[in-house]
Amino acid sequence: MNDVATQGVHKGLVGVVADVTAVSKVMPETNSLTYRGYPVQDLADQCRFEEVAYLLLEGELPTRRQLNAFRKAEAAERGISRALIRVLEEFPRKAHPMDAIRTAVSFMGMEDPEGRDTSVEATRRKALRLYAKIPTAIAAIARLRKGLRPIRPKPELGFAENIFHMFFGKVPEPAIVKAFDASMTLYAEHSFNASTFTARTVTSTQADIHAAVTAAIAALKGPLHGGANEAVMHMLKQVGTPARARGWIDDKLEHRALVMGFGHRVYRSGDSRVPTMAKYRDEVARLRGGEKWLEISRILAEEMLARKGIHPNLDFPAGPTYYMMGFEIDFFTPLFVASRITGWSAHVLEQMQDNRLIRPLSHYVGAAERKVVPLRARG
Ligand code: ACO
Repeated sequence: MNDVATQGVHKGLVGVVADVTAVSKVMPETNSLTYRGYPVQDLADQCRFEEVAYLLLEGELPTRRQLNAFRKAEAAERGISRALIRVLEEFPRKAHPMDAIRTAVSFMGMEDPEGRDTSVEATRRKALRLYAKIPTAIAAIARLRKGLRPIRPKPELGFAENIFHMFFGKVPEPAIVKAFDASMTLYAEHSFNASTFTARTVTSTQADIHAAVTAAIAALKGPLHGGANEAVMHMLKQVGTPARARGWIDDKLEHRALVMGFGHRVYRSGDSRVPTMAKYRDEVARLRGGEKWLEISRILAEEMLARKGIHPNLDFPAGPTYYMMGFEIDFFTPLFVASRITGWSAHVLEQMQDNRLIRPLSHYVGAAERKVVPLRARG
């Protein structure tokens, strides 16, 4: 579409700057990303996810005392209600966990003690409750669909350790916990991506944070966005062995099919988060004997770069990392939710501080104006 009338149309909002933000900065020219000014790689390597969650929600890295108070407040909110567990029990076993957690968050909104209060202060407290309760609900969904009882959260465990405890009943060795914790940091925030923009759009109508997060989860599910981490693992399994990787890519590219975990709207020469995630993936593969996935990944990345000039995105190393940790594939995107709730909440709070209804225009290309023919005369 390049006629004069449509020159102002930005399909997919490509290149459109929709608002200002102080939460994160994506710098495609240097393949870098900062959260409130801090390089994401340094945060992933040097901080626990709880510190990063605090940074996103409060604007500064916490002091030890602030972190202790934040951890205590989060741990105290981890429990989910009996009513929610009963609702989760009713979900069809074949339901996708993203649909389940989306519905669970919507339900949490109805139960929230400050449900109808949409003030900034109440929203900040609700954000903490969502951050604390979402992992518990996700783990409960994982257990219930296998006919197992949910495992209660342990307040004395860190955020990452507690997720393993609630999924598997045990906490793995520190290197595995660190890799998971780093993945949470890398997934936490990425400016105006589709789900965050969805959360901001909902917030711009003055709807509450549970409504915004429910909608954001819906947007994250799609395979062009968060759903890609699941699609990557299905793809690696389909490829099966390193020997088949080149032939598999040939076939995909010949059919102009998308190769999941590659490409990015903003980064054109590499996703800032990939080297850090790949480092932790490689460590998990060494500990869990997953070298096959590394070799297939290496060949796919090499071929995509050589033949299409396209680099992998974060989902490419994250998918196999979660797989090697023992998570079922359809829980990969819900784990992304457990992290991104922090970025979404930071944006919801930012949108609230300086709100203007988000309402773009469209260029009409349908039928010209015409007369209504009454039903009796339409044949
Ligand atoms: N596999 C094959 N070809 C690709 C891929 C891919 N993964 N990504 C882009 N291309 C091709 C496009 O087909 C297009 O080719 P063409 O010019 O011949 O038509 C060209 O590269 C440019 O791509 P765009 O369409 O401009 O990319 P866009 O910015 O619209 O989309 C997106 C970005 C959606 C991420 C895309 O790269 C994609 O679908 N990737 C696969 C899904 C994925 O991994 N999503 C995760 C994103 S990151 C995240 O959510 C954490």
